[in-house]
Amino acid sequence: MSKLGIIVASTRPGRVGLPVAQWFEGEARTHAGFAEIELIDLAEVALPFMNEPNHPRLARYTHQHTRDWSALVSGVDAFVFVMPEYNHGFNAELKNAIDYLHNEWLYKPVGFVTYGGVAAGTRALQMIKQVIGALKMTPVLEAVNLPFVHQFLDEEEGLLPNEIMTAAAKSMLDELVRLEDNLRPLRPTLEAPHGA
Ligand SMILES: Cc1cc2nc3c(=O)[nH]c(=O)nc-3n(C[C@H](O)[C@H](O)[C@H](O)COP(=O)(O)O)c2cc1C
Repeated sequence: MSKLGIIVASTRPGRVGLPVAQWFEGEARTHAGFAEIELIDLAEVALPFMNEPNHPRLARYTHQHTRDWSALVSGVDAFVFVMPEYNHGFNAELKNAIDYLHNEWLYKPVGFVTYGGVAAGTRALQMIKQVIGALKMTPVLEAVNLPFVHQFLDEEEGLLPNEIMTAAAKSMLDELVRLEDNLRPLRPTLEAPHGA
């Protein structure tokens, strides 16, 4: 059994992304398809704008923050990106975090929990597919898309899901488990980054 990493993409103070991700983490624990689950908050990872001189494919990292991020992503077998939609696209902090690495993402499946207004973050989802394709990641079709996300949020109790959301989360997790299992043989064994 493998490890799921749930990435909280939004880093804004007061972001909705955190309660959405916490709800999804609970669904993933109930589902029990992954032995380990980690909530990865990009606000805590706190990467600066990409400042490595070498292409990430070379894994010649010069900064400790990159080596730490590399170790974290290497240890995860499948991802869920919990993403807002900003100006009809996905947010810059997530793109920055993706761009820091290369080999660490290869042949890993990724599911999406998107949210926003009327479009439920689906425009951001379409946009990110091109980017993850460059890293040979496989997107899971079964997404969770939350329209008018604020309607599901309670200040004390966090996200209050409806049946559609719970069912969508389960479908996504089922597929993530299946894809992870089948992609695993394609994944390269990574050496420790140079300069570690
Ligand atoms: C810079 C910015 C751009 C936004 N653009 C969109 C948008 O294109 N589509 C949409 O549905 N919501 C948009 N919103 C509203 C967000 O869906 C809403 O603020 C949501 O709470 C953002 O997620 P976060 O709180 O996790 O950062 C935008 C919000 C911000 C801050």
